[in-house]
Amino acid sequence: MIAATWQRSVPIHRPLEHPVADRPYVLIEAAMSLDGYLDDASEHRLLLSSPEDFARVDRRRAAVDAILVGAGTIRADNPRLLVRAPELRQRRLDRGESETPAKVVVSGGGELDPAAPFFTTGACDKIVYVPDAVAAGTRARLGGVADVVAAGDPLSLERLLADLHRRGVRRLMVEGGGTMHTQFLAQGLVDEVELSVAPFFVGDSRAPRFVGDASFPFGPGRRMRLAEAGRHGDCAYLRYLLTDAAPRADGAAAGYEVGPDGALRTDEAQA
Ligand SMILES: NC(=O)c1ccc[n+]([C@@H]2O[C@H](COP(=O)([O-])OP(=O)(O)OC[C@H]3O[C@@H](n4cnc5c(N)ncnc54)[C@H](OP(=O)(O)O)[C@@H]3O)[C@@H](O)[C@H]2O)c1
Repeated sequence: MIAATWQRSVPIHRPLEHPVADRPYVLIEAAMSLDGYLDDASEHRLLLSSPEDFARVDRRRAAVDAILVGAGTIRADNPRLLVRAPELRQRRLDRGESETPAKVVVSGGGELDPAAPFFTTGACDKIVYVPDAVAAGTRARLGGVADVVAAGDPLSLERLLADLHRRGVRRLMVEGGGTMHTQFLAQGLVDEVELSVAPFFVGDSRAPRFVGDASFPFGPGRRMRLAEAGRHGDCAYLRYLLTDAAPRADGAAAGYEVGPDGALRTDEAQA
């Protein structure tokens, strides 16, 4: 009876059309506090994930072709964005891939440090997408360490995705920050969202949130599909599917072990 009640209470999932024919499968991967923050307001990076969750993200990184961040994340966190586990790197090499996925950054002004670990670590492609107007200046600054691509004026995420697809990127992980999450989601360019929720509060509205204000395709009248819920160490894990492309990308295509299409761990499953 629990199952019947539960089924009646769940609205029909209406996925987005996969909006751009030739774009990669786009996955947002983020860790947040229980009150929705990606970081605190200090200058130091806040660690939200548990060790078990870091290992999960590493496996997921190893299964994509490219990882994208906004320039704010590079300036704030100085991430290397590498696959860490040697066996995962080796498996990529065995598949004929670079040992770590291509790294992609989006910037409006191109003001990035060529000595940042983003550029100096990892045997992989590094690509900087900027608006047309600053492409030449950015190329002069970063051309020695990355491929600098003019992506329109203003910069177009659809154009960026089409360019990545042309380069062979079929699975793209967007790893922050909030500005990037907001734009990809609001423009309906996301197939899947994976969230790790840390068991504590940040409680400071000066800190960056998972997303900012926007008109999102999924609001109260259109719910995303919760495909999986679980835990990794002391962090909750939530996986949402947003488009028709998502179920087809389960398992091998997404390179990730998940249950059957849409297998929900809910009251129904636990009953
Ligand atoms: N917990 C997590 O999972 C996680 C993951 C990643 C980041 N974070 C946190 O998120 C925070 C950073 O997030 P954020 O929102 O401030 O920055 P962000 O999203 O990483 O980057 C924002 C920057 O990206 C560029 N950009 C974004 N949209 C653009 C567009 N349409 N056209 C051209 N350029 C564009 C601009 O770069 P320019 O300024 O160069 O023009 C903009 O300032 C940090 O505190 C970091 O620790 C947390």
